Amino acid sequence: MSRVKIAPSLLAADFGNLQRDVQMVNKSEADWHHIDVMDGLFVPNISYGMPVVKAIKKFATKPLDVHLMIVDPDRYIKTFAALGAFSLTVHYEACIHLHRTLQAIKEEGMLAGVALNPATNINVLEDTIRDIDIVMLMSVNPGFGGQTFIENTYNKLRDLKALIQHKRANALIEVDGGVTSLNAKALVDAGADVLVAGSFIFSSEHPLQTIKELKEIAG
Ligand code: DX5
Ligand code: ZN
Repeated sequence: MSRVKIAPSLLAADFGNLQRDVQMVNKSEADWHHIDVMDGLFVPNISYGMPVVKAIKKFATKPLDVHLMIVDPDRYIKTFAALGAFSLTVHYEACIHLHRTLQAIKEEGMLAGVALNPATNINVLEDTIRDIDIVMLMSVNPGFGGQTFIENTYNKLRDLKALIQHKRANALIEVDGGVTSLNAKALVDAGADVLVAGSFIFSSEHPLQTIKELKEIAG
């Protein structure tokens, strides 16, 4: 049984055929549906909001891994819980009272995730790491799919892994942005537990096969 999880990002799906693409992920060896919500303020792009997440939930058979790229995410914690999110990841850079936000997410029965932008050092999580279920390292600047992977992510992965071990924490490490079959193995070797992949999967000719390959490479 494979240890590393694969989370296809539906940002790269064909929105005109969303049901088809969600069902492709259902049928695949992927573990989670990754859902990117952007507000045009925290990031310079707007993706989709609640009605689309509701439509995804209607067809999805795997857990919804929701990534909020929005300012003041506390406003919508209950909303995404009601929509059926399995995990809710907020950005460190968007939270004034991160500890309170994490407790609020967990109180709603979801896994609590924190995403770090490429420019944010992992040390900012020293005092909250034991309260976090998932740390999402952004390996591109958030806002768009299809960007080039930032190589410094490997250093951050190793530092984060060491922090988690040092603090005897249990957080999963998720890597988001620019993941392909070329870097998947190295990311896992450096400590990744969950790999998000959007364009690499959905722009491939045989997405089911691509997911299978990623899963095998990741191990
Ligand atoms: C970027 C999003 C990512 C994105 C990844 O802001 O958070 O989840 O969909 O897309 P790729 O895999 O194409 O870089
Ligand atoms: Zn994402």
